Amino acid sequence: MAEIKRVGVLGCGLMGSGIAQVCAAAGYETIVREVSDEVVQKGIGGIGRQLGKQVEKGKLAAEDRDALLGRLRGTSNLEDLKDCDIVIEAIVENLDLKNEIWRTLDGLCPAHTIFASNTSSLTIADMAAATKRPERMVGLHFFNPVPVMKLVEVVKTIATDAAVFQTAFDFAKSLGKEPIVCKDNSGFVVNLLLVPYMMDAIRALSEGVASIEDIDKGMRLGTGYPMGPFVLSDFVGLDTLDKIGDIMFNEYKEKRYASPPLLKRMVSLGYYGRKSGKGFYDYSGDEPKPMPLV
Ligand code: 3HC
Repeated sequence: MAEIKRVGVLGCGLMGSGIAQVCAAAGYETIVREVSDEVVQKGIGGIGRQLGKQVEKGKLAAEDRDALLGRLRGTSNLEDLKDCDIVIEAIVENLDLKNEIWRTLDGLCPAHTIFASNTSSLTIADMAAATKRPERMVGLHFFNPVPVMKLVEVVKTIATDAAVFQTAFDFAKSLGKEPIVCKDNSGFVVNLLLVPYMMDAIRALSEGVASIEDIDKGMRLGTGYPMGPFVLSDFVGLDTLDKIGDIMFNEYKEKRYASPPLLKRMVSLGYYGRKSGKGFYDYSGDEPKPMPLV
């Protein structure tokens, strides 16, 4: 594989912090960029706490944790990513914002730098088109929680260079992940199938098919999924799920991708799931309690 030594990560939220962690854990010099120093320090602090738990459990040596954190640097300045061999974007699902950053980095990074997006529903070609290096753009789609989930979808557009794709695929493997090859269609493989399932669960709830708890229990015990659809939706973030639904509906004009009205109302009220303390469950007590939504 063409040599990758230095990795840039855009965004240090739920996904970006996990991606930065696994890159640093695999031995790469990793620099993660957020909109402000405060936000980036919060993200890196979260990684430190997560690793601290692993050390306490005896699953990670304290010196390995320190070495990992030594390879991880935060910044709020895009220019600091100019020497990266690959940049992985994990910011909010907004094409204009993503492309503004890609355009800036296109002018800063050397010609060999690979651009990769962790988008869950936009197409990679729509980002590649904003740059002068469409052949060096791929998708690297990770799953939450990134340090735990083995899968990475590696996405090639009709413009991606075969050698660049191979480098990205090998890079995903070098992170200890199991990559799969995907075409550049909105949602790739997993979200193409998962998003309508999650939206269908919300519609089933709205139609009174069963309660939140029983739909979750049904899918956990009836199919062996680790989480039911509502626990999973709260875990992914309802604001994120709603954005993904809008993007995929717009792409396919297929109503099963559309955000149901209940999801829209929950997002309007700030019920974003676990991260805001309320979603399909209320997380303010010791145990999550189903919300009185219907
Ligand atoms: N970060 C890092 N590690 C975590 C973690 C996190 N957020 N959450 C759990 N872990 C670790 C734990 O520390 C534990 O590690 P250990 O075995 O070394 O002690 C291990 O994961 C198992 O955790 P728990 O015992 O606490 O809990 P579970 O066994 O229930 O596993 C789970 C938790 C892995 C999250 C499991 O419930 C699961 O697989 N859920 C489904 C997740 C899923 O479907 N993710 C995909 C979402 S869709 C997506 O991301 C795509 C996007 O585009 C929308």
